[in-house]
Amino acid sequence: MSETYVTYSRDGVVGTITIDRPRALNALNPEVLVQLSQCLKEAEFDRECLGVILTGAGGKAFVAGADIASMLDLPPAEGLRFAELGLSTLQQIEDLSKPVIAAINGFALGGGMELALACDMIYASPKSKLGQPEVKLGIIPGFGGTQRLARLVGKNRAREIIFTGDMYDAQTAAAFGLVQAVVPEAELMDYCRGMINKIGRMGPLAVAQAKRAINKGTDLALDSGLAIEKLAFMSLFGTSDQREGMTAFLEKRNAVFKGE
Ligand code: HXC
Repeated sequence: MSETYVTYSRDGVVGTITIDRPRALNALNPEVLVQLSQCLKEAEFDRECLGVILTGAGGKAFVAGADIASMLDLPPAEGLRFAELGLSTLQQIEDLSKPVIAAINGFALGGGMELALACDMIYASPKSKLGQPEVKLGIIPGFGGTQRLARLVGKNRAREIIFTGDMYDAQTAAAFGLVQAVVPEAELMDYCRGMINKIGRMGPLAVAQAKRAINKGTDLALDSGLAIEKLAFMSLFGTSDQREGMTAFLEKRNAVFKGE
């Protein structure tokens, strides 16, 4: 039996996925990625879960990157297989029907920063350090970093971050638009839980469709993106959540959504 490195738990509507391999600062090897993928499936099919916090255990790192020792001797085909495992796992986060928040408390480097980039929002404690140091190792980001980072912060800032391999503190990452808020370490998880609870009071189908429209639409030409939004909008009519949301407004009460 292999060790357990990634766990899924739920408290109320808040799911938490914890990467727990502190002796290697939670570095991602194939086992960790497979377990992460499994936990994401659990979260997707847990009907009580309305959003997920992704975090790293040990108090020092979110994830310090892909596991360097396990990559050292990889021939190109194996390197590709490893990259594809990471890419498909991160894609699962983007495709999850619920919001996924990265709670960063420490190093989020290389594949760790790429993991955060696949999440819907990123919150970080002041001691956090983010960066894409792959060029220092003679490689480039391979879990989507060149693409997601450039789309999020713009090409020139992405070039600066990736070409230099520099590490940035949480405030600087926030100024880049990479981190949505810097939250004191002791409050970080509560802040993220509060965010999921708040979103959890909205219509779950609506949140899922909004996420889908943003993720599937924003890389397309505007008219194609707008077509995706239109279909997503239409799909919510006739759901019991849409009727409940609008009826509750008209009756001046809080809506009680069922996600149906
Ligand atoms: C494997 C890692 C690791 C990693 C840290 N460790 N990062 N092991 N892969 N990415 C291990 C160290 O070897 C060490 O093990 C232990 O974790 C503690 O780390 P230290 O270096 O002793 O800690 P510290 O001096 O505090 O430095 C922290 C650090 C440094 C600045 C984060 O560990 C570091 O630079 N790590 C590498 C970061 C990085 O380059 N990430 C990008 C990887 S490439 P021992 O056994 O010695 O105690 C990547 C590519 C993605 O992510 C795409 C792939 C397709």
